[in-house]
Amino acid sequence: MSNKKDDDLDYETTGHEWDGIKEYNKPLPRWWLWTFYACIVWAVLYSIAYPAWPGITAATPGLLGYSTRAEVAEDIARFEDANAGINAQLASVELTEIANDPDLNQYAQNAGAAVFRAWCSQCHGSGAAGVQASGYPNLLDDDWLWGGDIESIHATIAHGIRNENDPDARYSEMPVFGELLEAEEIAQAANYVMTLSGRDPVDAMLAAAGEEVYLDNCAACHMDDGSGDVWQGAPNLSDAIWLYGGDYDTLIETITYSRYGVMPSWADRLNEAEIRAVAAYVHGLGGGEASPE
Ligand code: HEC
Ligand code: HEC
Repeated sequence: MSNKKDDDLDYETTGHEWDGIKEYNKPLPRWWLWTFYACIVWAVLYSIAYPAWPGITAATPGLLGYSTRAEVAEDIARFEDANAGINAQLASVELTEIANDPDLNQYAQNAGAAVFRAWCSQCHGSGAAGVQASGYPNLLDDDWLWGGDIESIHATIAHGIRNENDPDARYSEMPVFGELLEAEEIAQAANYVMTLSGRDPVDAMLAAAGEEVYLDNCAACHMDDGSGDVWQGAPNLSDAIWLYGGDYDTLIETITYSRYGVMPSWADRLNEAEIRAVAAYVHGLGGGEASPE
């Protein structure tokens, strides 16, 4: 152990001592102090020049008048100006013409993909494949509830489905058969529906009896062969694509309680160019159909 005396050192002590350990009174290094002062000066100048002090409604604006919000607004305005021409064109051409104009179509596809990511993917999935058996349809296939030509898709998106805020919304309602049919008849219908898509029913006897139940109660909307009806949004029951599910238990549930799939209308949230862009995008996903002549 070394036994250095305080007198051997250049530094003063504060006079504090614990168990022989003494507290030096060393000055802060010069470089540290100057950096510290420079920071204070910087902070004062910064808070004068830029928005800094929070107020009741807004922060002090700062002498330079800078605002991140204004900068974004400027960017958006510049972007909108640059696209004003093509947006006007998109909003006014015949819907069926969009696909025939390569530049316009390219623009609509890109803009539509962006709209889809922002507004549609929550329900339809980011890849538009829908959510299996949840009532949110797959938009990639050629199975359409309400029609797959561009005009139909546009109308569905603009006005929504079973959406009470828009009088032009697509509307139809499957009856609640739990109130209309006996449980036996519902079981018969469900078994028969399974055969429409070429599957084996759970009970062949019930399925045979179900044909009559089906033709009397269901065919008006789902058609005799189960192919569905886009005018009523009645799904095709003869293919392998199910909105809510094609297994026996789900069929019983759907028939007993009915469903009421709702999609919002977009006409009050998106402008016409955006609706057309996303309609062109959905139409171009693979299942788009040609418009009727
Ligand atoms: C809140 C959920 C929700 C959002 C958000 C949503 N949809 Fe839908 N969409 C649905 C439901 C539910 C249906 C099916 C309704 C039915 O059973 O008829 C549907 C159906 C559709 C259909 C009809 C499909 C067919 O087979 O005819 C299209 C097209 C469509 N949506 C496009 C869009 C687009 C484009 C957007 C974004 C602008 C969007 N949807 C946003 C829930 C949503
Ligand atoms: C008034 C028209 C109408 C009648 C009648 C009707 N349906 Fe429906 N059905 C619909 C509509 C519309 C939907 C879609 C409901 C939704 O998305 O909310 C549907 C959906 C279904 C589904 C779900 C299909 C899927 O892909 O998940 C099944 C199954 C079904 N109906 C079976 C029946 C059976 C069986 C009957 C007769 C007992 C019947 N429907 C009578 C209109 C009808």
